[in-house]
Amino acid sequence: MAFLSDTLARVKPSPTIAVTTKANELKAAGKDVIGLGAGEPDFDTPDHIKEAAKRAIDAGKTKYTAVDGMPELKKAICAKFERENGLTYTPAQVTVGTGGKQILYNALVATLNPGDEVLIPAPYWVSYPDMVLLAGGTPVAVAAGIETNFKLSPAALEAAITPKTKWFIFNSPSNPTGAGYTKAELKALTDVLMRHPHVWVMSDDMYEHLVFDDFEFCTPAQVEPGLYDRTLTCNGVSKAYAMTGWRIGYAAGPVELIKAMAKVQSQSTSNPSSISQHAALEALNGPQDFLGPFREAFQRRRNLVVDMLNACEGVTCPKPEGAFYVYPDISGCIGKTSAGGTKITDDEAFATALLEETGVAVVFGAAFGLSPNFRVSYATSDAVLKDACTRIQQFCASLT
Ligand SMILES: Cc1ncc(COP(=O)(O)O)c(C=O)c1O
Repeated sequence: MAFLSDTLARVKPSPTIAVTTKANELKAAGKDVIGLGAGEPDFDTPDHIKEAAKRAIDAGKTKYTAVDGMPELKKAICAKFERENGLTYTPAQVTVGTGGKQILYNALVATLNPGDEVLIPAPYWVSYPDMVLLAGGTPVAVAAGIETNFKLSPAALEAAITPKTKWFIFNSPSNPTGAGYTKAELKALTDVLMRHPHVWVMSDDMYEHLVFDDFEFCTPAQVEPGLYDRTLTCNGVSKAYAMTGWRIGYAAGPVELIKAMAKVQSQSTSNPSSISQHAALEALNGPQDFLGPFREAFQRRRNLVVDMLNACEGVTCPKPEGAFYVYPDISGCIGKTSAGGTKITDDEAFATALLEETGVAVVFGAAFGLSPNFRVSYATSDAVLKDACTRIQQFCASLT
């Protein structure tokens, strides 16, 4: 009898974590490696947030809290949704978990039955399909390629919906492409969803605050109030507030769904860390002025990386609206051979040869469901990015 479950056999470990681990191993072995794989800001958590956590420890806020979040944090989350998204929720409609990841997972576990389909625009964040599989559902990838700037077309969404579709997962700005939907683009999608009342919307707004130029962030329940009763609006403090290690994510939606998610959490992890909740409270209620400089730094780095990658032979790199990723197309490199003798048959071969021959670690596109591409996380210093992009340019130029 097999010891491990059949469910587990269907999922794969996170390829982004695998790339980061491999890069760290090579570094530890003394190799000159630049890791562009990790999806986290290089900035430290702002001081006032750290201070709030220290105060919480000293005040003895070290006990269990309500399973899905302290009442004062839920209140702060309601205020955030009202202030920033024009969405009105009560604390009973809010849930807090251990990172955005747990929030999404709770919702899927709480709602999916065998045969239920979940629509996921591809390229997608690596965890979506595997979380759906772990929760017993069927992920359905819907292509959103470079020809539409990695944005899903209303026609493609319409064509993918079946009677079995339970959720549509929407992520803007996106990991891995950085693509952000304008209000008009999103409205075209919500118009489709309005015609299919059995489909629920899981909006993953994790990169809301990381948008550039004049881009205005919007979220489905805001753009189409008719979807409010079947939308779970998910967010968290990890990316915007440079708080990846604190593990706080949250969501708001219909009370029945929120209660069901709390039930899942009550029998798995219980409350997220009390100290982290106090830090998140300060993040949401405290000064927001550091977000501007964070955004400016990311925008400057995006411009640098896009320009340098577009100068690589065989590479086309669209300029995204947000997040801290770019997702260049490498069609022009496929079929060539690297200086080290590797045949570039696909994007995995490209990423492997790039790492081995130049020390630059990126994640290959197949991991995100759209090839041939690779993802660069530009959440690192300008100097490091220049060095990495120069090496990628040299690598591409040496392909024959
Ligand atoms: C699109 C997206 N959603 C959710 C998450 C999860 O965030 P957290 O670290 O809060 O679990 C990530 C993290 O990489 C992400 O990229």
